[in-house]
Amino acid sequence: MAAILQLLQRDHTNISRLLRVFEEQLTAFEAAETVDYDVIVDILDYCRSYPDRYHHPLEDRVLETLRSRDSDAAEQVGDLAAQHAALAAETDAALTLFLDARNGKEIARDELIRAGRAFLTHYQQHIAAEDVFFFPAAEKALRDQDWRDLENAWDGPSDPVFGDREEEHYRRLRHEVLTDNSRTSPA
Ligand SMILES: [Fe+2]
Repeated sequence: MAAILQLLQRDHTNISRLLRVFEEQLTAFEAAETVDYDVIVDILDYCRSYPDRYHHPLEDRVLETLRSRDSDAAEQVGDLAAQHAALAAETDAALTLFLDARNGKEIARDELIRAGRAFLTHYQQHIAAEDVFFFPAAEKALRDQDWRDLENAWDGPSDPVFGDREEEHYRRLRHEVLTDNSRTSPA
């Protein structure tokens, strides 16, 4: 399998692990238990810093290449860039609310839960759709040279939570994910 596709799939596995941590937090919050604002904020912040900046633009470029090789399949994938923009907006909205709550501002519990659920549900649906149709369609239609061109144009950093050069800022988040075995296997 092409290295770029492996990278995108690994990103999905990693993002899904974080989404499961997010879901645990949100479910506890919905059950009127306390929530760890730092973990929630760090996951949303990670999504703004890595998937929104590097993973999604790379997928957009893969889709452009797919369009030139199999326009019907690309049509079926739909408007990924618009979906990515919508996810970024929902992530941003949730991040703003949870940051305010963490900083002591009074935010209605329902509002936090609604924003958290919208982010979580749409992210999970989006990843599942890409895994089921987009990635297999790209794998089938793109040629070796296409993947090489994508790879040569790729200038993203390693993942700040799961990569070789984990950022200090995300140390706690990495620990949260890695210390629970139920979260270490792919979704
Ligand atoms: Fe993706």
